[in-house]
Amino acid sequence: MKAIILVGGFGTRLRPLTLSVPKPLVDFANKPMILHQIEALKRAGVDHVILAIAYQPNVMMDFLKEYEEKLGIRITCSEEKTPMGTAGPLAIARDLLDDGTGEPFFMLNADVICEYPLREALTFHRGHGGEATILVTRVTEPSKYGVVVFDEGSGAVDRFVEKPKEFVGNKINAGIYVLSPSVLSKVEMRPTSIEKEVFPLVAQENKLYAKVLEGYWMDVGQPKDYLTGLDLYLGSLAKSGSGLLAKGSHVSGNAIIDPTAVVGEGCVIGPNACIGKDCVIEDGVCLRNCMVFPGTRIGKHSCVTGSIIGWKSRVGQWVRLENMCVFGEDVQCKDELYVNGAVVLPHKEIKGNVSKPEIII
Ligand code: GDD
Ligand code: MG
Repeated sequence: MKAIILVGGFGTRLRPLTLSVPKPLVDFANKPMILHQIEALKRAGVDHVILAIAYQPNVMMDFLKEYEEKLGIRITCSEEKTPMGTAGPLAIARDLLDDGTGEPFFMLNADVICEYPLREALTFHRGHGGEATILVTRVTEPSKYGVVVFDEGSGAVDRFVEKPKEFVGNKINAGIYVLSPSVLSKVEMRPTSIEKEVFPLVAQENKLYAKVLEGYWMDVGQPKDYLTGLDLYLGSLAKSGSGLLAKGSHVSGNAIIDPTAVVGEGCVIGPNACIGKDCVIEDGVCLRNCMVFPGTRIGKHSCVTGSIIGWKSRVGQWVRLENMCVFGEDVQCKDELYVNGAVVLPHKEIKGNVSKPEIII
């Protein structure tokens, strides 16, 4: 079985992290986002993943080469010369996706995190006889997503409204689809949106179905949602009794600490904290609701809450970082500073207090 992952966007909302690597390669809970997905696809019986890439294809393919062998799955790139939106990539990969057997395939947005109930989605798809299945999830703020209005009994979709201005419902497109190859004939070879141009058409023909996704879900393509997604992910690990969660007297609630990271005396790590490879967390540090990317050092008695610290950064001693600070790669923050909601570009230095949220470029 095949799958196509849309990895094309520029990931602007996850800057400054995406200034260093493409969004799908940004670590989520110490593993690149896209690997969470490729592993789930493999578990669901997929043997060939096609990456629809419009931006830096070589970076992605070089990175994933070793995983083809490790995971025993074929990974190929379908390149766009210009960004083709969320449906155009289907036209480019048409021959790869339609092998003449009529077998459905999976399609995924690259920035969604969940338990990936893909087998269940496939069974549902085979059962309804339509052309497309969308997994949906409930959210409190539907306006930033695609809203799906459907019959709860049969799953038949009545309407699909992308980023609605007015409230039409609270069940939204989770960015995970099962598509039959017949859908491909509805996609033109031009930049086009599956949400705005293809799904409404399939819905009109009564061939679009929705299935409510069990468990947690999050689009982690924005910093605040990234941390919320981390919390949900760690919660789900806790529920399943996963050995990935850190243990010890310094751990408070759910946290992940890479085995190569060094954590000093008297630290409090968690709840909802993740420490990457080769990080050094000095004595008395408090890390709560935050992600620390690989190779970063946090000085003694500093406290980081609700923030994301990029690769190889250096936070001094007695520093307080809070309120959605996002540091890019190699940011240096001097000792004894208070930093409130600073978004800091790679290779920058913070020398003074930042008392209210600002972008440091
Ligand atoms: N190959 C390719 N080419 N991929 C693209 C392009 C492109 O031109 N543009 C966007 N993508 C990819 C992104 O990388 C991402 O994986 C996916 O398409 C969706 O794009 P986003 O920019 O993340 O869209 P969104 O989050 O605003 O909305 C989408 O996701 C929501 C769920 O998270 C929509 O599908 C909504 O309907 C949905 O609710
Ligand atoms: Mg998104």
